[in-house]
Amino acid sequence: MGNHTKIVALTGKGGVGKTSLSASIVRILTENYPDSKILAIDADPAVGLSVALGVKPEHTLDEIRKKMTEDVADKLKEAQDILAEAKFQLYDSMIEKDGFAFLAIGRPEAAGCYCAINTYLRKVIEMLVDDFDYVVIDGEAGIEQINRRVLEKVTHLVCVSDQSRKGLQIIETIKNVADELVMYDKIGLVVNRAPLPDKVKEKEIGGVPVVAVIPQDDAMTENDIEGRSVFELDDSAIVLNGARQALRGLGLI
Ligand SMILES: Nc1ncnc2c1ncn2[C@@H]1O[C@H](COP(=O)(O)OP(=O)(O)OP(=O)(O)O)[C@@H](O)[C@H]1O
Ligand SMILES: [Mg+2]
Repeated sequence: MGNHTKIVALTGKGGVGKTSLSASIVRILTENYPDSKILAIDADPAVGLSVALGVKPEHTLDEIRKKMTEDVADKLKEAQDILAEAKFQLYDSMIEKDGFAFLAIGRPEAAGCYCAINTYLRKVIEMLVDDFDYVVIDGEAGIEQINRRVLEKVTHLVCVSDQSRKGLQIIETIKNVADELVMYDKIGLVVNRAPLPDKVKEKEIGGVPVVAVIPQDDAMTENDIEGRSVFELDDSAIVLNGARQALRGLGLI
C-alpha cells in the first residue's frame, strides 16, 4: 500500500449523513488538491453516493466480480493475470469527473452475496490505493464492513452520528470494534444534523474526538429533494463548512 495514500472511510448507523458527508469531503478534497488523484468509493450496496456526486456509474464492482468469476472458470487463468485483468476492468468502469474517479460496489442480486462482494471490495481497495492520493469510502450502515475487515487499512475513520443519546452511546462500541479490526491513524466523530449544536460541549465522545458538529442544513435537504449533487451547493453551505471542519480536525486539509 502506498504510504502516502490517505484512505478516509465514513461509518455510522443508517441515515445519519454518511453519504452526504462523503460527497462533501470529495468535493472539498478536489477543491483543495486539484492536482491529486482522488477516488470515491460507494461501498454501500444500497447506493447513493453517485447521486450525491452527480455521477452515473455504468458498471459496478459486483458486475465486474461476476464477470471475472465466470471468466476464471472458463480459462483457469493464472492468479496474476486475473488480478491484472480485474484492475483493467476496474479502471475501465471507473468514472472520471470533476477531478475525481468513482467506483460503486453495486447491489448483489441474490440475498446472502454480501460476504463475497465485501471480500472482493477489500482486495480491490488494496489493489487500487497505490494509484491514488486520497480514497474516500462511503460505508454501508452499521459495523458489518468493519467486522469483515473491509475497512482494515483505512488511515482516517470518520464516525458519523446524530445527536441522540443512543446514537452517541454507540460511538464507544464502534471505537472498540475499530480498535481491534482497523489499522487507522486517526479517528473522528461528526455529529451531523444536530438540532442543538451548542449542546455538544464534549471534546471527545466514547473515546472519539469530536471533529465537527453540523447543524441542519436546509440547502442540503433541498439539494437532496431535487436530486442535485453536492457540487451544486453554495460554497458557504453549512454541510460543506462542517465537512471542512472535520477534515481540518483530522489533519487532512
Ligand atoms: N446536515 C444536514 N442537514 C440537512 N439534511 C441532511 C444533513 N446531512 C444529511 N442530510 C440529509 O439526511 C438524509 C440522510 O443522509 P445520507 O443519505 O447522507 O445518510 P446515510 O448515513 O448515508 O444514510 P444510509 O445509511 O441510508 O446510507 C438525506 O436526505 C440527506 O440529504
Ligand atoms: Mg448512505
